[in-house]
Amino acid sequence: MIVAIDGPAGSGKSTIARLLAQRLNFLYLDTGAMYRALTLKVLQMNIDLDDYENIIVQAKNTEIEFKDEKVFLDSADVTSDIRLPQVDKSISSIAKIPEVREEMVKIQRSIGCSTDCVVEGRDTTTVVFPDAKLKIFLDARFSQRAKRRLGDFRQKGIDVDIKSLETDLKARDTADMTRAVGPLKKASDCVYVDTTDLTIDEVVSRVYSLAENKLKIK
Ligand code: DC
Repeated sequence: MIVAIDGPAGSGKSTIARLLAQRLNFLYLDTGAMYRALTLKVLQMNIDLDDYENIIVQAKNTEIEFKDEKVFLDSADVTSDIRLPQVDKSISSIAKIPEVREEMVKIQRSIGCSTDCVVEGRDTTTVVFPDAKLKIFLDARFSQRAKRRLGDFRQKGIDVDIKSLETDLKARDTADMTRAVGPLKKASDCVYVDTTDLTIDEVVSRVYSLAENKLKIK
């Protein structure tokens, strides 16, 4: 069974998907981490963000693995580095390239077809797994999403200014929702959950009971 969760940055997807996967004993697949890992590689190799040809070559020749809740890029542990602000700033340029998305979707489908999983991202309910058993769209007010992102950075000891964070988040929202391939949009058969005023436990309980109902009628 696949539970697919989409939503904008800061809506709580990663936290909720991870906890839901633990509770269901499903694999947790963070598709954003894959785009992040590739973006990190492009930055590390000093590849120009407009050099699509080279970026596509990297997408086809990069090994991204998930092990013990860690992310590995060509065997190196990049779990922390993929969350750096410079990755946030550059990722939209990489994620909009159709051939890059094609590669990522291929890998995501092969993982999802081999096991029960909770998958989260921007296009998992619309493109990657449109027939997922349960599809959820998580959302929250912009100010709350920005506050959560700020908290994430501060927790890692990264000092960011709220104004520039808000500017970057807005730019990423726009890029995510307007790209030609795999844009973020709410599928009509998604359950919409606004997490603005809910605790993590409340959201997990809500999505868990939705999943439980689906499991019963499987
Ligand atoms: O979920 P996240 O914030 O880690 O995702 C980072 C970026 O990766 C997001 O702004 C757009 C891109 N992304 C995507 O294009 N498609 C996905 N399925 C997941 C993420």
